[in-house]
Amino acid sequence: MNTTSALIETEYRLGAHNYKPLDVVLSRGEGVYVWDTEGKRYLDCLSAYSAVNQGHCHPKILAAMIEQAGKLTLTSRAFRNDQLAHLYEELAALTGSHKILPMNSGAEAVETAVKAVRKWGYEVKGVPENCAEIIVCSNNFHGRTMGIVGFSTDPDARANFGPFAPGFKTVTFGDLESFREAITENTVAFLIEPIQGKRV
Ligand SMILES: Cc1ncc(COP(=O)(O)O)c(C=O)c1O
Repeated sequence: MNTTSALIETEYRLGAHNYKPLDVVLSRGEGVYVWDTEGKRYLDCLSAYSAVNQGHCHPKILAAMIEQAGKLTLTSRAFRNDQLAHLYEELAALTGSHKILPMNSGAEAVETAVKAVRKWGYEVKGVPENCAEIIVCSNNFHGRTMGIVGFSTDPDARANFGPFAPGFKTVTFGDLESFREAITENTVAFLIEPIQGKRV
């Protein structure tokens, strides 16, 4: 068995079967290119679903990571550190946001947004306890956590993971009338991908 098929076999044997990647085993990347274990070069048009839009092993990012790794590993949020304020300043200038809450993943960001809008609904809008409603679209993809798969319309994402959290109303993507009809005095947010990328 060559390295590529051995790696695929080990991954299949030891890893949970929760994803079906293409059988291309990548070992190196530079800018827009990646190479597999057999030395074949590819143009990376996926860029980890846009998480690597800056390109692989960008020299400025790599240098900053190496520099920081040699100085301080992790502070948690129990202490302050000398970098967070700079990150906030740069992000605020870049996005025009007035408040920033960094997350580790897209799903975590969506879960946190759900919490934030519900809290706003109860504490600012005056929605009765446990009645907050969030409107979502059919064929959405917002991640794979429990809260999120609960309002997915993809049977594969939901099957055998219930029971799910209440408080989400689904409308047809692109149907403005069904969106209008779904709005009530308990609506606290509309969660939408303006362009859906993962249609079922
Ligand atoms: C639109 C959208 N929202 C949320 C997510 C979830 O992001 P993550 O995989 O970082 O949790 C994705 C991931 O592909 C996405 O495409």
